[in-house]
Amino acid sequence: MKNSLDTNSVPVSGSLFSGGGLGDVGIEWGCGIPVIAALELMISRSQLISKNFPETKVFEGDIWKLKDEYISFFRTELKGKRPWLLTLSPPCQGMSANGAGRISSSIRSGMRAREDERNRLILPGISILEKLQPDWFILENVRRMENTVIRNEKNKPENILNCMGRRLHPLGYAIRSCILDFSSYGVPHHRERLITIGCRVPKITQKIPVRQNIFSRNLSPFHPPPSHGVRGCHPLVTLRETIGKLSALDSRTFLKDAQDPFHCVPRWNEKQYFWMKNTPEGRSAFDNLICPECSYKNRKKESVFCEQCGGLLPRPMVVQDGRARLIKGFKTSYRRMKWDRPASTLTMNSGVISSDVKGHPDQNRVLSLREILLLSTLDHPRWKKRFLFDGIPYGRMSRNQDFSPKLIRQVVGESIPPLGMARIVDHLLTMNQEG
Ligand SMILES: C[S@@+](CC[C@H](N)C(=O)[O-])C[C@H]1O[C@@H](n2cnc3c(N)ncnc32)[C@H](O)[C@@H]1O
Repeated sequence: MKNSLDTNSVPVSGSLFSGGGLGDVGIEWGCGIPVIAALELMISRSQLISKNFPETKVFEGDIWKLKDEYISFFRTELKGKRPWLLTLSPPCQGMSANGAGRISSSIRSGMRAREDERNRLILPGISILEKLQPDWFILENVRRMENTVIRNEKNKPENILNCMGRRLHPLGYAIRSCILDFSSYGVPHHRERLITIGCRVPKITQKIPVRQNIFSRNLSPFHPPPSHGVRGCHPLVTLRETIGKLSALDSRTFLKDAQDPFHCVPRWNEKQYFWMKNTPEGRSAFDNLICPECSYKNRKKESVFCEQCGGLLPRPMVVQDGRARLIKGFKTSYRRMKWDRPASTLTMNSGVISSDVKGHPDQNRVLSLREILLLSTLDHPRWKKRFLFDGIPYGRMSRNQDFSPKLIRQVVGESIPPLGMARIVDHLLTMNQEG
């Protein structure tokens, strides 16, 4: 395709590194832009996309191998015209700003062993953008991507954003990258992400031109202005508003609601239960210095037994070489969320209390699957459909369950919140109309 910089695009989109298709819910179900193709490595996730987007062509496998097929599909389907939007959310586990200098020097000296290949997945993504030249693209990643250095297609170390600019600026793309917290857009949990948006619509790039420096701390005109929180006109959406009316559960005595199979939680062992039962809203079990037996307020930060009565304190501890000691952990683990704030970031470990801020504000459990679906906005009134998880086996499933709790927690933990994606695409549609 030649670089004609025309506006002859078709109002469709495609996703790359599509996960379970949660971001695509915001685009197709929320904004009415059909996602005609998706590309995802893991079979369970690609099956989720096929189930929920029956019209979408799903490319299942490695992007390095499938990129040419993906490009051909668009060219045939759109009869050589360009798609309006492509979205990319390459995996972020390998991204780290730490050691960018070390990575650069080891790449220069030909030592590749410590390089994380996942960081290079952006390269086939950029090749697809070069070939299909959508009017817009949205790249979602963790905020530290801003400083990540990779080995580029010429085997040279290069910052990822600089690499995108070098290859896409000559095609007319104005690119802007900013950090957004999705709670500022009505999503009831905190999720900070680096959102990079590229545009090649001439009437827009005349006003917002190609610029070498892609990243900015201030919001760019490509990014929607916040609607919630200090910079928006609405208050942040809280945990109480979103899940406050759901029935009570308990991680030892009441694991699931008979009326809603998704309102279910994993079982805790007795020790976890004892630690968390004594932990107030917003606090960590590591802070539990008051003895539940005699109410004495212990002073030593490392105590696991009460200094007054000798009773066990409800603090995360292990017995090692016959001695009890505090578990080495972060202050954010074994911590409860707060009712009148958005939830903490939903991660793939949303079911694990020893992970970062995973406790329900006042019930003795982590968040249920229904709660994470609501907080992620996958279960949201803006969509007129329900996202389906049934019939896709993955991980350990109990006998009466036809969905995998592990798959749900993973795809939600890795996703761009559908409402957040819809808010970004709403903004691009408005920009397109206003010109
Ligand atoms: C951050 S997740 C994407 C989440 C998605 N945006 C959503 O909203 O649901 C990144 C995805 O890239 C996939 N992935 C990893 N390596 C890949 C590869 N080599 N080719 C294609 N997909 C890959 C992972 O399986 C994962 O589902």
